[in-house]
Amino acid sequence: MKRVVMITGATSGIGEAMALEWASRGACVVAVGRRVDRLRSLEDRLGRNQCLGVEADVCVDGSIEKAVAAAQEMFGQLDVVVANAGFSVGGQVEDLSIDDFRRQFETNVFGVVRTVQAAIPAVSITKGSIAIVGSVMGYVSMPDNSAYAMSKYAVRALAEALYGEMSPRGVAVTHVAPGFVESEIREKRRDGSHSPGSDPVPTFLVMKREVAARQIIDAVEARRREVIVTLHGKLAASVARHAPELVHLAFKAGASKLRKPHKSHKLHKPRTEG
Ligand SMILES: NC(=O)c1ccc[n+]([C@@H]2O[C@H](COP(=O)([O-])OP(=O)(O)OC[C@H]3O[C@@H](n4cnc5c(N)ncnc54)[C@H](OP(=O)(O)O)[C@@H]3O)[C@@H](O)[C@H]2O)c1
Repeated sequence: MKRVVMITGATSGIGEAMALEWASRGACVVAVGRRVDRLRSLEDRLGRNQCLGVEADVCVDGSIEKAVAAAQEMFGQLDVVVANAGFSVGGQVEDLSIDDFRRQFETNVFGVVRTVQAAIPAVSITKGSIAIVGSVMGYVSMPDNSAYAMSKYAVRALAEALYGEMSPRGVAVTHVAPGFVESEIREKRRDGSHSPGSDPVPTFLVMKREVAARQIIDAVEARRREVIVTLHGKLAASVARHAPELVHLAFKAGASKLRKPHKSHKLHKPRTEG
């Protein structure tokens, strides 16, 4: 029987690449996002019998329950759920409003909690998998990225607790921590609106999204507890775990070049989120 995979944030970037890769491996894909034109385009590319696009906002209570119900109605089951939807609120702490922090948490933390809670009954039936997309910034909190890093530390904690809660039921939980991957994340403003422009991260550090998708899917299929994607990400997480002082020395020595001027414009894009 075909595996059925639901991915939030499947309309661009890593989520869309995972949808395409999983479909190429024979899975049925339930793609969740807010941009309906992108969802329809994904359905057209993959075919309606292999892809169902569901318009849903992870910030709205009950929205992911509806997506899960649509997935079960269309494909009869749900095997894998990937809580991937997210964006980045950048800026120095004193420049961010409480609403900036709330907006970041509403999507990146509560949106993930909503997705996980909606998925648990369905994946418990299939003894399937839940994947939570965090970030290397769930290990390393960088200047100008406090809100984003806080949200990613939070979902790493969620994944760790959930791993223990789900294992008696035979449900796997994978925490996914990408470093810099090709996507639209660095084209979004602090308020989530789109602001296309060149990626400020050097190209040699940015992994192709197809490569990231393959690594993530391999880890989820192998029911691994954690996967850190990109070499620089593995290095950063390892240094943060084993020699945290080195991280702070590196910030002092070099990060000032990457930092935005103090009291920057309210809607500035963070330069280094990932
Ligand atoms: N790319 C990187 O370098 C990198 C590094 C580390 C971690 N990550 C993480 O990877 C995940 C995917 O991001 P990406 O890099 O692929 O960025 P992206 O291209 O901007 O994709 C983000 C996706 O999230 C969806 N989304 C955002 N808010 C949503 C909401 N309220 N409800 C439903 N969907 C929502 C967007 O779809 P709609 O706008 O259509 O709703 C879009 O499909 C995020 O959790 C991000 O933090 C990315």
